[in-house]
Amino acid sequence: MKLKVGVLISGRGSNLQALIDACAATDFPAEITLVISNKADAYGLERARAAGIPTTIINHKDFPDREAFDRAMDSELRAAGVQLICLAGFMRLLSPWFAEEWRDRLINIHPSLLPKFKGLNTHEAAIAADEKTHGATVHFVRPELDDGPIILQASVPVLADDTPETLAARVLEQEHIIYPRAVRLYAEGRVNVIDEKVFIAS
Ligand code: GRF
Repeated sequence: MKLKVGVLISGRGSNLQALIDACAATDFPAEITLVISNKADAYGLERARAAGIPTTIINHKDFPDREAFDRAMDSELRAAGVQLICLAGFMRLLSPWFAEEWRDRLINIHPSLLPKFKGLNTHEAAIAADEKTHGATVHFVRPELDDGPIILQASVPVLADDTPETLAARVLEQEHIIYPRAVRLYAEGRVNVIDEKVFIAS
């Protein structure tokens, strides 16, 4: 039985595409059973539809508060039998309730070498800080933004003539490699969280 994955998106969905492509391999131990977007015009929805994956749009503006929105997503995810949630460019903060409900079954990809450069505009920040190395992180989600045990990271050089765009493109290539890799490890039951640190079984 493949692990059932739900992916939450808000936009472009290139990481979603990387997961879709990985799941297309018969020996990949996970399958995407639902994609939820909070934006009706997210391009990632088209990627999901093209792959024949069920999609749901849940507009956060239709709910009185963050938790009510999260509870609506929770119902859909449970109805789809989701066992692992992947945030992939999902631009909403999650409520503490949701983060606890899905604790250690909820992961995110962030475009920096956490704990450096949490939040938005990470590539600008890395260049401004004169970093020589930058990268991406897959981590478990905790209620605090861009916090939580780190599963995988990939680093890239920051070149002297980099713009935020050129650096973002270099990082994104790595994101598309490590996100499917992290999902595979998780689906194989090899990712263990002990005292808020990840141990990967060989
Ligand atoms: C990626 O850079 C990801 O790390 C960040 O948001 C961006 C989403 O891009 N969380 P995409 O929608 O997957 O193309």
